[in-house]
Amino acid sequence: MTDTTWHRAFPVDELADGTMRAVVIGAREILILKTRAGCFALDNTCTHAEARMVEGRLRGTRLVCPLHGACYDVRDGKVLGGPATLPIASHALRVVGRHFEVGLES
Ligand code: FES
Repeated sequence: MTDTTWHRAFPVDELADGTMRAVVIGAREILILKTRAGCFALDNTCTHAEARMVEGRLRGTRLVCPLHGACYDVRDGKVLGGPATLPIASHALRVVGRHFEVGLES
């Protein structure tokens, strides 16, 4: 059985619509994205060759890798276009008070 541990990230109002920001939580880098479809949290690492996704482009709910152009759905991390074949891990995200909190399983 896994437990979810919630980690405070940064204030919600620091993230504009259509943008993203990476935060370090423990040994991981997590990407928090704000879209018209809602806010989401993903690992910040492309599953193809480990590019930092925060340096890519966010188009609606599509996130494009800066290195070779793989495309992911930010709502669940699934691959929409190669060369990546594996999804990016997605994480629980909630707002408590004014802050985002990321839920990581332990
Ligand atoms: S590192 Fe992202 S597509 Fe290659």
